[in-house]
Amino acid sequence: MASRFTDEMKRCIDAQEGELSRQYAPLAFDAADVKSGRVETNYKVVLIRLLAAHALQEKLSAAGYARALETVADSQLRRTIKKNLAEEREHTRLVYRLLKELGIEEAEADRSMTLALRAPSFDAPCYFAERAEGELDLILASMSLDTTGYIMISSNYRQSSYAPHSYASKAILEDEEEHDTFAATELMDAAKRFGTDKVNQGLREWVPRAANVFGPPDSGFTVDCIRFGLKVQDNRQLSELYLATLEQRVRYAGLQMPRLSTSYPYTLA
Ligand SMILES: [Fe+2]
Ligand SMILES: [Fe+2]
Repeated sequence: MASRFTDEMKRCIDAQEGELSRQYAPLAFDAADVKSGRVETNYKVVLIRLLAAHALQEKLSAAGYARALETVADSQLRRTIKKNLAEEREHTRLVYRLLKELGIEEAEADRSMTLALRAPSFDAPCYFAERAEGELDLILASMSLDTTGYIMISSNYRQSSYAPHSYASKAILEDEEEHDTFAATELMDAAKRFGTDKVNQGLREWVPRAANVFGPPDSGFTVDCIRFGLKVQDNRQLSELYLATLEQRVRYAGLQMPRLSTSYPYTLA
């Protein structure tokens, strides 16, 4: 089941590629181009902000898996948590290394995200890192972060005009595909393990957070990212793809997809 829906999601991602105009082709620049000033200054500013956001999302995912190790006792789940934790730490290291190549240290990158951290797009990663408890939260957090991360990276960063981000994204995607399969598989069994009512309540809490991960549609920052070829899709397209994929999984698992408001930040309708 998981792979059938993952294949369907991949077809949607491939079909959407290239729909919006971009100024620079995939893999157009490397670090030397950006550092030497051969690329316009605003490209570097937008790139650094995008990398800082990506790095922090990876770091909070790692912190969430580290927290899950303290609150989940099931031995099979703990094996997956340890594997995913190691991989999220590696993703974190990879993206901060990209920032360092551009002269930005981790602390500086994190400081630049202080305001963004309070936005709805960071609710899910912050909740996973700071408040999630136990097995059901782990499964719903993985559904909210690994699946959205997989969509964001494969739709956007894989095709980046900044070659180092594209290469790092391809490496990260190999792990994220497995994380997404874990989330989908565990969701299938969740009703049996925890009871339908409890999982449906969890979905009502987590799905709005998850849909908000992609950020506001049509923001000036995203328009710049698309123009520079640092992203391919607008945030609305990504959240729609995510919600359509999730709805199939939720229904297949005999659960109820919560109804959401029609605009960002998403809440229960
Ligand atoms: Fe990751
Ligand atoms: Fe992940």
